[in-house]
Amino acid sequence: MGLNRRTFVSLGGTAGALAIGMPFVRPSYAQSGPLKLGVLLPYSGTYAPLGEAITRAMELYVKQQGGKLAGRDVTFVKLDDESAPPKATELTTKLVQGEKVDVLFGTVHSGVAMAMVKITKEDGVPTIIPNAGADQITRGMCAENVFRTSFSNGQAGFAVGPAVLKAGHKKVVTATWKYAAGEESVAGFKRSFTKGGGEVLKDITIPFPDVEFQSVLAEISSLKPDAVYVFWAGGGALKFIKDYAAALGGKIPLWGPSFLTDGVEQAAGAAGDGVKTVGHYVESLDNPENKAFVKLFQDAHKIPPDVYAVQGWDSMQLLDIGLKAVGGDVSKRAQLNAAMAKASFASPRGPLRFSSSHNPIQNFYLRELRGGVNNFQGIVEKELSDDTTGCKLA
Ligand code: BEZ
Repeated sequence: MGLNRRTFVSLGGTAGALAIGMPFVRPSYAQSGPLKLGVLLPYSGTYAPLGEAITRAMELYVKQQGGKLAGRDVTFVKLDDESAPPKATELTTKLVQGEKVDVLFGTVHSGVAMAMVKITKEDGVPTIIPNAGADQITRGMCAENVFRTSFSNGQAGFAVGPAVLKAGHKKVVTATWKYAAGEESVAGFKRSFTKGGGEVLKDITIPFPDVEFQSVLAEISSLKPDAVYVFWAGGGALKFIKDYAAALGGKIPLWGPSFLTDGVEQAAGAAGDGVKTVGHYVESLDNPENKAFVKLFQDAHKIPPDVYAVQGWDSMQLLDIGLKAVGGDVSKRAQLNAAMAKASFASPRGPLRFSSSHNPIQNFYLRELRGGVNNFQGIVEKELSDDTTGCKLA
């Protein structure tokens, strides 16, 4: 089929083969034919494990439903966006205008997501974001057809501030990659941390996706804060945890949003012991949906699910709710969007519903990494929303 590294096609149900780059002929099936779901995610680079976890859970959801959603077979058309914003416009256009996907899922990286949403907002194709937290997407850029099942960067950062203060830390240094996710995460953290009396001594940034952390660590060491707040994820997070333990481990407590340890908890080994994070999922959450999800995912993939898998799973749950409301007829976009906007359901993370700008309203939990497991330490924020600054929807 001439698939290259950036092109993946997986087929569900009775769907036929599709490949990007082949002359496109829109199949003449009616609304009873296969649903074509576009997936724009990173399958290479530092965020590849995130894209893979999301994909696994999305596919597992469809499999669990017998390969059909709202009675229709499902075809996935997947592209690797490499977490590279300059490629986002071309790849999104391929899926939306070339493949004419019925629904688009994407992506992980905020910069890629911003470019993707500019296109889908204009086109009107229902769009579900299973990770990227760019604040603007559910603030000023909000749209009737754009939904997020993850978090906004500011919301996830904001949730960490009170927990750091409660632990008794008053002076903090932050460090992150210099792009929307890192900067918005730090800004969210600072909003709650400084409001509660905390002081940020310095914000350190390095370019995305650099993993040369020695200068960052040297600067932290010389500033001698009470604690450190960082936003890194994927391969970069794992490298930072290891480098941090070697340079400063046991001396200055390391904190972050859950992306710091999600998906890398086992690989971090002893270097991760004691790292504290706040996030919207913990594998040990004691609710029936989580227990069933953990077992299903573990049985299917022989690894426990992480927050990215939960976000992928919930993206499909959300679409399923929308599809059922329109009897699987994706041409009824307004009704589909309206049903998803008022969706409220039991996620493995706990109760999940959406703000008027389609950002999750959800609990945030304190976790401590020890022995390769993020251990639940309590609820930090119950049903935390994000401000909808500038959103003109509801
Ligand atoms: C982002 O770019 O929005 C992002 C990437 C990884 C984890 C969390 C957020």
